[in-house]
Amino acid sequence: MTEKPLYILAIESSCDDTAAALLQNEKVLSNVVARQAVHEEYGGVVPELASRAHQQNIVPVIDVALKKAGVERTQLSAVAFTQGPGLMGSLLVGSSFAKSMAMALQVPLIAVNHMQAHILAHFIDEEGYDKPTFPFLAMTISGGHTQIVKVNDYFDMEVIGETTDDAVGEAFDKSAKILGLPYPGGPLIDKYAKEGNPKAFAFTKPKVPGLDFSFSGLKTQILYFIQKNVAENPDFVAQNRNDICASIQYTIIKILMEKLKMAVAETGIKQVAIGGGVSANSGIRTALQEAEKKYGWKSYIPKFEYTTDNAAMIGIVGYHKYKKQMFNDSAVASKARIAL
Ligand code: KG4
Ligand code: ZN
Repeated sequence: MTEKPLYILAIESSCDDTAAALLQNEKVLSNVVARQAVHEEYGGVVPELASRAHQQNIVPVIDVALKKAGVERTQLSAVAFTQGPGLMGSLLVGSSFAKSMAMALQVPLIAVNHMQAHILAHFIDEEGYDKPTFPFLAMTISGGHTQIVKVNDYFDMEVIGETTDDAVGEAFDKSAKILGLPYPGGPLIDKYAKEGNPKAFAFTKPKVPGLDFSFSGLKTQILYFIQKNVAENPDFVAQNRNDICASIQYTIIKILMEKLKMAVAETGIKQVAIGGGVSANSGIRTALQEAEKKYGWKSYIPKFEYTTDNAAMIGIVGYHKYKKQMFNDSAVASKARIAL
């Protein structure tokens, strides 16, 4: 007899995206994200505006996720939601909604760690996608995170390296801002870098011990470099945009790859999975392909919609927690900071 499938409704609201997804076991039936454009003019996420926008978006986003999946509320097996880390005012919107819904439907409530979810996103069923096997290394790189994690099992993970200041996505976005590019500037740096010379300008890499990262020094270095050159030639940025972007990207990717190489050497694990918005970067993708050829690594990059902040990744954790009966009661508290 085949087992009845599980239908998990997942809600993600840790930062500036309101997201809901419906999973049938490990398969995604719908994955809906309402991005908040309100932050663009501020050059970064404004927490107070984010929580207000979540309140406006959450009901329609969940409705659309259910409709797209063709699943009725009464069919739901559980409701999973992001417990943290994230912005408290944003997290509370998703958690309150998830709690009321689970209570009303009398189904289990499952609290999910957002960082675990970025990693377990690799286990979503997707045609043609080879899932990693344990143990593997996961590098989560986004506007909010920069971590290297040794993943021994679904719920046995160890952070072996992380940023001591800015996240790598912030390094991209802040550099872009210095160049006068709009927020978020990461994808634009990537775009212009393709037309530029990565060795045109040399930036020094920060010296950070072990597997940890630091990006704030690089940002300051870029700022002084631009200020100095613009003082001599007001058109410096316009005349050298592609070369500047290529040189910045080259330096950032070099920092990431050097730490990954160290992590592989230290652990002996050659399976490397990346996630988070910065995994869309063409430089990191090329670098990983080269490492596959040169060092025999196997790299994993999930579909873009599962790698930026989304609720499908919360749903896959919900599924694996359900299988282990890892449920929460409605007293479970949202947490701005939370360990893996
Ligand atoms: O995962 P994400 O959508 O949200 C979180 O920050 O959690 O990641 C967004 C970040 C931004 O910093 C954005 O500039 C960066 O990912 N990003 C990129 C690229 N696409 C997105 N950075 C560099 N190159 C890209 N192609
Ligand atoms: Zn995230």
